[in-house]
Amino acid sequence: MNEAILKVKDLNAYYNSVCALKGINFHANVDEIVGIVGPNGAGKTTLLESIAGTHKIREGEIYFLDHRIEHWPVLKRRKLGLMLIPQEGNVFPMMSIKKNLEVSVLYSSREEREKLLDYVYELFPVLWTKRKNNANTLSGGQQKMLAIGIGIAANPRVMLIDEPSIGLAPKLVTRLFDTLKKIKEDSGNTIVLSEQNIKILNIADRLFGLEAGEIKFDEKTENLSRQVIKDLYLGG
Ligand SMILES: Nc1ncnc2c1ncn2[C@@H]1O[C@H](COP(=O)(O)OP(=O)(O)O)[C@@H](O)[C@H]1O
Ligand SMILES: [Mg+2]
Repeated sequence: MNEAILKVKDLNAYYNSVCALKGINFHANVDEIVGIVGPNGAGKTTLLESIAGTHKIREGEIYFLDHRIEHWPVLKRRKLGLMLIPQEGNVFPMMSIKKNLEVSVLYSSREEREKLLDYVYELFPVLWTKRKNNANTLSGGQQKMLAIGIGIAANPRVMLIDEPSIGLAPKLVTRLFDTLKKIKEDSGNTIVLSEQNIKILNIADRLFGLEAGEIKFDEKTENLSRQVIKDLYLGG
């Protein structure tokens, strides 16, 4: 399928007088995993936050499901199915794991809620085992799983995830990425994630390269040389 569900046109974003994104054109298709890659400071987080609405853009247009949304508040975007899982502050630490997930399913129909929760617990059994504990009792890796679980429980049409591999041991990164691929295949939804980990090559259908706020490439992963990506844009 090649139907764009999300489109960004000529986007410019600033922090006061500092330009963080220049003339960005970006899109994500239905049923696609898109990796936004680039070194620290490239603008990956700013792009995701601009799409989600947590960063106010200066110029440009954003389309989601045929709505023009760049002036919409965060919650309105979220209700239409656009959800950002930020790098930090993505769980409620003093709430139980169960409650964290239950809050997330609130916008879904009653019948869907149970299915979504069951699916999250099936993907991450440790969350079921520890469901009565507060989120802050989980390890870093488990909290990351909970954050992704919260995202899945919200059943978004497009899930935006900011550098999920950061702070995870290599084995966990592989597992997390395999899980993201399964989520995409099971749901047919779209995942857009920023990354600096080379393993993104194993799951992304397309890579969008950013450097110093500008587009460097936008290519199907299969057309990109692994070495070029590794040298230019990704860590070990
Ligand atoms: N809160 C902020 N205040 C000022 N400048 C910022 C802020 N956040 C990010 N920047 C700048 O914007 C640019 C893009 O940053 P960011 O989107 O965080 O990049 P990345 O996520 O790729 O590391 C960088 O030059 C960064 O220094
Ligand atoms: Mg970032």
